[in-house]
Amino acid sequence: MNLTPPVFQQSAAVYDLLYGEKDSSSEAAWVSETLESHECKSGQLLEFGSGTGRHARLLAERGYFVTGVEPSVEMLQRAEPHPRVTFLQGDTSSALLTEEYDAALALFHVMSYHTSNLELHSFFRTASRHLKRGGLFGFDVWYSPAVSFLVPERRTLTKEDDQLRVTRKATPAEDVQQSRVDVHYAYTVELLSSGEVTRFEETHSMRHFTTSEIQLLAEIHGFTILDSREFLTGRQPSRDTWGVWFTLQKD
Ligand SMILES: C[S@@+](CC[C@H](N)C(=O)[O-])C[C@H]1O[C@@H](n2cnc3c(N)ncnc32)[C@H](O)[C@@H]1O
Repeated sequence: MNLTPPVFQQSAAVYDLLYGEKDSSSEAAWVSETLESHECKSGQLLEFGSGTGRHARLLAERGYFVTGVEPSVEMLQRAEPHPRVTFLQGDTSSALLTEEYDAALALFHVMSYHTSNLELHSFFRTASRHLKRGGLFGFDVWYSPAVSFLVPERRTLTKEDDQLRVTRKATPAEDVQQSRVDVHYAYTVELLSSGEVTRFEETHSMRHFTTSEIQLLAEIHGFTILDSREFLTGRQPSRDTWGVWFTLQKD
């Protein structure tokens, strides 16, 4: 049962250009240091929503074996192969692999793409089913106190390489009752060699969470929260912390 039709279809072609400035190496280093701090120094990782494989490759270079599960064929097609990485098409509700993993990961807001309780319970069940006892479940989420305090804004992002110029206009609409922000993206992609322009739109629905909601999900699905910190700085989450990282351990 696939509960989530992939949103990263047309935008997959420009994903790495739009996020090229994100420091994936530092992010992978931070994630692996966090895993190491909880005694997971090597072994098998299962990465949900692995996208174009940015983190999977870097984590593999740090000694892990990584299986990336990603629903969007267009994102998977852009993932470069690596001898210690396997990419599979699938999602967090239906993935059913035979292996048991040392840790499961969902990096760069993958958890926030799960907007309904049904999807969240499915994801937690899938993560638990694939973890060894004592295995870790690490993910970042949009943090409700920051979404309320900072408020999602309209934004325009333009990026260019030697082939394309991409402009993405983001218009957020909040559903306060459902802890959800529906971000409408309007893309304009210009092929620099010919001037040909393509336009398309996507809406990405994102859920934000309080620590107590994650605590509740953890308790229901047999996990204990080991830490919750601002992603990349390790600071205590506050109203200014959009992305909070949680490390859970399977009981
Ligand atoms: C913002 S991207 C992050 C991709 C990658 N983790 C990165 O850091 O570049 C969110 C990813 O989550 C994936 N995703 C969304 N819903 C999903 C689901 N139910 N199961 C697995 N992946 C999902 C999307 O296809 C997309 O690749």
